[in-house]
Amino acid sequence: PKTPHSSPMPDSSNSLILKSLLLKLGQKLNEGKTKQIFELVDEPGHVLVQSKDQITAGNAVRKDQMEGKAAIANRTTSCVFKLLQEAGIKTAFVRQQSETAFVAAHCEMIPIEWVCRRVATGSFLKRNPGVKEGYRFSPLKLEMFFKDDANNDPQWSEEQLLETKFSLAGLNVGRCEVDIMNRSTVAIFEVLERAWATQNCTLVDMKIEFGVNVRTKEIVLADVIDNDSWRLWPAGDRSQQKDKQVYRDLKEVTPEAMQMVKKNFEWVSERVKLLLEPKACGRVVVLMGSTSDLAHCEKIRKACGSYGIHCVLRVTSAHKGPDETLHIKAEYEGDGVPTVFVAVAGRSNGLGPVMSGNTAYPVINCPPITPDWGAQDIWSSLRMPSGLGCSTVLSPDAAAQFAAQIFGLSDHLVWSKLRASMLNTWVSLKQADKKLQACSL
Ligand SMILES: Nc1ncnc2c1ncn2[C@@H]1O[C@H](COP(=O)(O)OP(=O)(O)OP(=O)(O)O)[C@@H](O)[C@H]1O
Ligand SMILES: *[C@@H]1O[C@H](CO)[C@@H](O)[C@H](O)[C@H]1NC(C)=O
Ligand SMILES: *[C@@H]1O[C@H](CO)[C@@H](O)[C@H](O)[C@H]1NC(C)=O
Ligand SMILES: *[C@@H]1O[C@H](CO)[C@@H](O)[C@H](O)[C@H]1NC(C)=O
Ligand SMILES: *[C@@H]1O[C@H](CO)[C@@H](O)[C@H](O)[C@H]1NC(C)=O
Ligand SMILES: [Mg+2]
Repeated sequence: PKTPHSSPMPDSSNSLILKSLLLKLGQKLNEGKTKQIFELVDEPGHVLVQSKDQITAGNAVRKDQMEGKAAIANRTTSCVFKLLQEAGIKTAFVRQQSETAFVAAHCEMIPIEWVCRRVATGSFLKRNPGVKEGYRFSPLKLEMFFKDDANNDPQWSEEQLLETKFSLAGLNVGRCEVDIMNRSTVAIFEVLERAWATQNCTLVDMKIEFGVNVRTKEIVLADVIDNDSWRLWPAGDRSQQKDKQVYRDLKEVTPEAMQMVKKNFEWVSERVKLLLEPKACGRVVVLMGSTSDLAHCEKIRKACGSYGIHCVLRVTSAHKGPDETLHIKAEYEGDGVPTVFVAVAGRSNGLGPVMSGNTAYPVINCPPITPDWGAQDIWSSLRMPSGLGCSTVLSPDAAAQFAAQIFGLSDHLVWSKLRASMLNTWVSLKQADKKLQACSL
């Protein structure tokens, strides 16, 4: 076994790292232009990703500038990864450790940059003459580049990637893995695009990398997403872009110009925190005709919880206590919180239709269907008088999912969970198929 040494670097910056972290660092596994990767002695399978800027900086002015940048990059990366993780996207990120370092799952990196574009700009215009800047891609445009500094990161086709037959952490990167990265890149872009839209910002394009988690052998989003990973245009306006392009476009590097670049990064890092804040906080109110349906209703509440949606359960019968039903309705209409009602009533469902005829809020019928009379009972939820718009689903999970879809229209965090769940289902199917194919060979 390797002897972990807590002095991976001889210089003074090392003591600085140790002081701020109180983590036992093992071997330095990798070092690039902007980051160092250390083994963690007490957390096998994990690494410390340390941003280098503050370490390499020499004179005080430069150091100040770099520290500012590293901190901004830190904030951006950790907020973005938190957002993706809360949505349910698999990432290497584990936790923020200090101002300039985070703990991540140890990965073997797949040397491909996945680029996803909503709006044509930059290198795409050069490679595709005739396409004007601002052309919108729907569906999103996906490109991949092999990470090869010596050859200027050439663009690759899927076939080139497949034929290279990468094997990382024991995982062969084949058709299944390439498709998973392709689909994940699109989902990640859509989640971030939706989040930035809450700040009136257009996510123009984005580049990301994947790694194979050495312990789980799963493909996860790894490395970082920071100031350098995307282009953002406030309110879709190219002239106010808040990203590295400002820096690239500078004709000459004057102090005023540098100040503007710094201001832009600060603007992004301030806004990035807001991406984690829920826009609207909605509520699901489950009305049950009797407590015999409680188990069914608890399932709805649990599923709502997985979307981060508050859910309350009430008992009321539209047949036996209509005054109370309308009273409860008024209670939830009266406090201004956006509400979706779910009606759970066995046999003849009077509850959902009565609610639907008396509130402008959405009503979802979720009747607990029994084998004996289910085929007949269901019509009380389906065949409505004119003027009623309630919907009907049968499974408790589906009721919660439909409510989440309604809230997702205005709440990007709920929407992100739905989007990530779609991705994860797609990936599970793909992997199940791969496994079955391997068995039958
Ligand atoms: N979770 C992780 N586990 C293992 N290695 C990682 C992880 N995250 C990032 N790395 C790797 O750490 C190395 C150092 O990062 P850095 O960004 O400084 O490299 P770089 O100089 O930009 O080179 P590259 O072109 O590979 O990105 C990179 O090779 C990166 O892929
Ligand atoms: C780094 O990110 C964390 C988590 O967002 C934050 O608490 C911390 O203040 C950041 N550091 C700096 C210097 O901004
Ligand atoms: C991603 O997948 C789509 C659909 O299969 C395919 O058309 C596209 O070429 C792929 N993109 C890349 C960069 O591999
Ligand atoms: C976004 O734009 C809308 C309409 O112009 C405005 O009402 C809203 O306050 C803006 N939001 C932010 C976060 O700037
Ligand atoms: C983006 O932040 C990184 C720090 O991670 C820094 O090295 C880089 O210079 C920044 N980009 C620009 C254009 O300053
Ligand atoms: Mg890098």
